[in-house]
Amino acid sequence: MMAAPRMAEPAPIGVFDSGLGGLSVLREIVARRPDLSTIYVADSGHCPYGGKSADQIIERAEIITEFLLGQGAQLIVVACNTATIAAVEYLRAHYSVPFVGMEPAVKPAVAATQSGVIGVLATGAALAGDKLHRLIDRHRGTVRVITQPCPGLVEQVENGDLDGPETRRLLAEYARPLVAAGADVLVLGCTHYPFLRAPLAEIVGPGIILLDTGAAVARRVDSLLPATLASADRPAAVLRWHSSGDPQQMMTIGSRLWGQGMRVQAFIA
Ligand code: DGL
Repeated sequence: MMAAPRMAEPAPIGVFDSGLGGLSVLREIVARRPDLSTIYVADSGHCPYGGKSADQIIERAEIITEFLLGQGAQLIVVACNTATIAAVEYLRAHYSVPFVGMEPAVKPAVAATQSGVIGVLATGAALAGDKLHRLIDRHRGTVRVITQPCPGLVEQVENGDLDGPETRRLLAEYARPLVAAGADVLVLGCTHYPFLRAPLAEIVGPGIILLDTGAAVARRVDSLLPATLASADRPAAVLRWHSSGDPQQMMTIGSRLWGQGMRVQAFIA
């Protein structure tokens, strides 16, 4: 009797960020859909996006999208708030695969606040565009929303300094005035910031809610893809890693953030 043919590996999903921050989104996607093969691109050679113009970010997003499509990606997650704000509309207009972008957790923050004040921590570029301000205007109701650009935090995460004195100094400088102004919910409006959740929670003290949207993005990805039935013939999911920066650096710091070793290939573009 002939052996049943082995199923082909399903098309992967592509996930990208300016660097390692998107790993905070990917971990939610993998937790929800461990059957999915993924290709992650860290654009660490061009990080941070926070100081770049929208046109520069669109150019990077387009280069990475072309690469991911060349690898057979069936869906692309823009796991970066700044790139979503600058580029997701452009990407959707120019490519036919579905794109899932980030949306800072303003709506759930407005629903959660007891004090009537929330803070939004984000990059300078994310706050420079009007997309985030439109989101705030759409959901704020009577809630006071204070926005806070956080230069330097992305670099601290990229360098693997999640809890050192300089990281804590920056977190205190950005978050304490929001809490002093009455905010009881802080929106982590950049995918790097969930990696700073523990020191941030300590700095702002108990009773302050910290919200990110990784899990919501994972639910959205799940809803767009057909459920796959477990089968002995199905090849196991494969996670692939690429960096436009130093692959060795991603192997060291990315593995620490991911919690497992990763073999990183150079992404030269
Ligand atoms: N993780 C990116 C974001 O969510 C960081 C952008 C940057 O590189 O400044 O906004």
